[in-house]
Amino acid sequence: MEHCAKKPKLDNASIKEGEAEILVDNTNVFYNPVQEFNRDLSAAVLSTYIANINKQAAKIPQKEDGITILEALSATGLRSIRYAKEIPGIKHIIANDISAKAVESIKNNIQHNGVENLVKPSHEDATLLMYQSRKNKFDAIDLDPYGCPTTFLDGAVQCVSDGGLLMITATDMAVLVGNSPETCYLKYGAIPLRSKACHELALRILLQTIASHAGRYGRYIIPMLSISADFYIRVFVKVFSSQTKCKENATKIGMLYQCTGCESINTQPLCYKKPTGGYKLTSLPYVDQLCKICHHKQHEGGPIWLSRLHDQHFVSDLLCNLDNMKLGTLKRIEGVLNVIHEELDVPLYYAFDRLMSIVRCVTPSMLTFRSALLNAGYHVSYSHACKTSIKTDAPNEVIWDIVRAWEKNNPVKREKLSNDSAAIKILDTPMATNVSFDIHPLANPVSRQNKLMRFQQNPTINWGPGTRSKTRVDLENGVEISKKIKNQNKNSKRNKSHITKDTNEIKPSENN
Ligand SMILES: C[S@@+](CC[C@H](N)C(=O)[O-])C[C@H]1O[C@@H](n2cnc3c(N)ncnc32)[C@H](O)[C@@H]1O
Ligand SMILES: [Zn+2]
Repeated sequence: MEHCAKKPKLDNASIKEGEAEILVDNTNVFYNPVQEFNRDLSAAVLSTYIANINKQAAKIPQKEDGITILEALSATGLRSIRYAKEIPGIKHIIANDISAKAVESIKNNIQHNGVENLVKPSHEDATLLMYQSRKNKFDAIDLDPYGCPTTFLDGAVQCVSDGGLLMITATDMAVLVGNSPETCYLKYGAIPLRSKACHELALRILLQTIASHAGRYGRYIIPMLSISADFYIRVFVKVFSSQTKCKENATKIGMLYQCTGCESINTQPLCYKKPTGGYKLTSLPYVDQLCKICHHKQHEGGPIWLSRLHDQHFVSDLLCNLDNMKLGTLKRIEGVLNVIHEELDVPLYYAFDRLMSIVRCVTPSMLTFRSALLNAGYHVSYSHACKTSIKTDAPNEVIWDIVRAWEKNNPVKREKLSNDSAAIKILDTPMATNVSFDIHPLANPVSRQNKLMRFQQNPTINWGPGTRSKTRVDLENGVEISKKIKNQNKNSKRNKSHITKDTNEIKPSENN
């Protein structure tokens, strides 16, 4: 289990990851070993992206001398150096950081790895650098901030080339999963709801924000891959220019409704495309004030991205390309990508154990629940973001009929349920679906049959986004302020590894 690798010693040492070796001299420059999966995956995505450009180039000559990349928030330069050493077809990479200490570390690491010809250090505020690069755009931009990436989006969507790739991480999961909806609105322009589907919801909030930023400049996005992993999310999106196409944003983005009783989810796009051309507004109310299933009130969240999370052709290419790469976390990447390849293109999901706990009933096996949906004529898949997820095109009424049918064979003591509970309303409603729990031949997905490493393993002791770099930069005055941040993790204090758990992290069990 490479994911549970031992904590590396960081003092006055070097760290090998992929083809790169990074000098770690204890200068408080950010390095998080747990993000190896993120860096491995990014290298694989970038490599596949370049290979696809080269395939097209056989037809239309372009990018003959390789692509240009900006790693806007580089810290040690590790990512850029790995890209330079592991991926063919790169013209040059700018490894940028606002911290002088980080840039010193980037320079040392470039030299140590002998990649001076490909990786150029840069000491600049990423936002400024991106605004200055609007004429000389980059083909790929990597944004891997500590926390929220949205302050960098306005620059990024303007300085990426037509058809270029944005690779964006967000680690402020507490905000994205709804701990503070008003903060999420400030940062991402969307209200999250506390939901079992919170990890996918976080992806859809981030994609909505990127799409809205791009739309302002007549550009639109196509997500290639959207991943929820460990304590962060990471999206890979292509950006294109078209004044006409970017108008479709209003049909791809919409609101989200979740019942406060049974947690049933509904979504509604902001606009519809008319078959005859043009756009039409949606009519309200889309959901009843009280939920049809359990008569509780609904919460409204969003706007969120409702269109595809992944380009499945790209995911296939990516899976094929893995054979050409030597990656430390290959097994995990292979597992996650196979689950993603099987994912239905349906927004969000239910956690089937949660559905059963709402009615206080024993839980059937996953195979049994999935079989019931397939037997009723609907599709079902997992989401890579949750081990107990049910992603389905079945209407909410059918899902609850399956719960009701299961309860008939596994009765719940009615006297334990209060009269105004969602459970009583659900269980006392007659069924309208013919439910069969016979095991369906497609109920066991191929990724599970092949025993791939599909969901994350137990985290390491370092698990978490790490501490923000201890060197802060006063953006207005351009001065570096060395600030002692109270170390919350006793282990990291002892080992001086700068890696601590942070209040931003969410419990691993939520992701299982
Ligand atoms: C999470 S670290 C990057 C980690 C790195 N990408 C990796 O994979 O190891 C974030 C970095 O962003 C830098 N940073 C923060 N604000 C910045 C800004 N406005 N411009 C450039 N760099 C910035 C910090 O100094 C820090 O080194
Ligand atoms: Zn309800």
